[in-house]
Amino acid sequence: MPETTWWKHGIVYQIYPRSFQDSNGDGIGDLKGICQRLDYFTWLGVDAIWISPIYNSPMADFGYDVADYCGIDPIFGTLDDFDHLVGEAHAKGLKVILDFVPNHTSDRHPWFQESRSSRNTPKRDWYIWRDPTPDGGPPNNWISNFGGSAWEWADATGQYYYHAFLREQPDLNWRNPEVRTAMYDVLRFWLDRGVDGFRVDVIWHLIKDEHFRDNPPNLAYQPTQAEINRFLQVYSADQPEVHEVVSDMRRVLEEYPERVLIGEIYLPLERLVSYYGQDLAGAHLPFNFQLIHTAWNAREIAALIDEYEAVLPEGGWPNWVLGNHDQPRIGARVGPPQTRVAAMLLLTLRGTPTMYYGDEIGIGKVEIPPEAVQDPWEKTEPGLGLGRDPERTPMHWDGSANGGFTSGRPWLPLDSTFASRNVEGLQNDPTSILMLYRRLIALRRKHLALSIGRYTPVTAEGDVLAYERQHGMECFLVALNLGSQPHTLSLPDGARGRVLLSTLQGRSEDMTGTQVNLGPDEGLIISLEKNELSG
Ligand code: GLC
Repeated sequence: MPETTWWKHGIVYQIYPRSFQDSNGDGIGDLKGICQRLDYFTWLGVDAIWISPIYNSPMADFGYDVADYCGIDPIFGTLDDFDHLVGEAHAKGLKVILDFVPNHTSDRHPWFQESRSSRNTPKRDWYIWRDPTPDGGPPNNWISNFGGSAWEWADATGQYYYHAFLREQPDLNWRNPEVRTAMYDVLRFWLDRGVDGFRVDVIWHLIKDEHFRDNPPNLAYQPTQAEINRFLQVYSADQPEVHEVVSDMRRVLEEYPERVLIGEIYLPLERLVSYYGQDLAGAHLPFNFQLIHTAWNAREIAALIDEYEAVLPEGGWPNWVLGNHDQPRIGARVGPPQTRVAAMLLLTLRGTPTMYYGDEIGIGKVEIPPEAVQDPWEKTEPGLGLGRDPERTPMHWDGSANGGFTSGRPWLPLDSTFASRNVEGLQNDPTSILMLYRRLIALRRKHLALSIGRYTPVTAEGDVLAYERQHGMECFLVALNLGSQPHTLSLPDGARGRVLLSTLQGRSEDMTGTQVNLGPDEGLIISLEKNELSG
């Protein structure tokens, strides 16, 4: 796979479709809305949009409970709208990535309806049905990711079914070859319509222990944590046989040119990288969520980058993520000044970056009043701060009512800052975070060193994280001040530098010299002229 493949040097932008742009006034974003905003992506400079699920769904988990894998939910539009969106996106040079949700269906999916109807139906074994223990209890101690037992009793047929998430999301039995065939055909259905790739939901969950052994207790569990953490997920996920399925999916994608397979995987690095597969026959990009969970300081982030670079298999392509629809926003986590530094980090690391809608306008911590709560997780495990509504609030397009998101009543409240923090306003302010994102993206597109170039750590002392990126004759120093004190940094071995971009306003961009002053919370991209390079 050449390094110029689009998903290697490109930037992915995640859209949470309910919250991006509503076109019909029902308060929920839709496909026509996304279509109206395509020029925004080309203006911003991203390469691909990944759209969270848009399939027919009862919306118990807002689309991650699919009732028909080959249909579009009327809330979002129609198949025609979808085809139109793909056509328009492609005409503008944008790729379209869909979310694929293979681990579970909705309990309203016809497959499950049939499966639950009788022990003898051919679809019975498409899901995971087990007998109760002798005292009538659930088959084992597995916990749902949203709390409570992962087993639901079905009176009609006298067995439990397994659901790793809500009881409305029964897990498919991926050990059954018929399930595999049916689901690979779903991939082909969308690939035939021109989709450029998939982000596969909870891919590491697909295969469970064949003996359904109890998970061992997690001795570090605290009751302030989500209940799923009571046990270590040793038998309920990340089983060796899952890699067969991942490479099957990869093979399906390879029936088509240049498609990308991205896997959602929350695992420690050494387990994560196994999802590249034997001989890289697995996922192209097993999502690397480590930045989301690493403390925001230079030492730990530098150690993370080094560790990741070290465990990547030969030829495995890196990727980085700062946030998504399941995680507190970066702006809420590190605060406004560091949000700009985070943008520079994301867009100057080696590998494919995935941006999350709204981060580029600096949406921060959004308060959701109790009566506005939507997320099922906040409802099943209230008060622990697990709710995902704060990172799913509508996009701010302009200063008009509801930020230009909808003419109706938005399904979630907008962040109260929308009147001053919106795309239109920030586009007119050269110092805004949005314009910083745009400049960063433009610079990354212009200089391959910043996307596919070699990564070399320089320093992680105190609050300063610095590294070099090099490709051919080009070399850049990225220097990030993760603290609020100024710092002076010497340039490496007699090199001279020119500042190309600062995260802060008013910085002279043609400064030269052998050392560089970093302001508080400032990040710089410096073009380096090294003796050995220029000589
Ligand atoms: C993934 C999705 C999340 C969803 C869960 C169950 O983690 O990102 O939003 O709730 O899977 O499908």
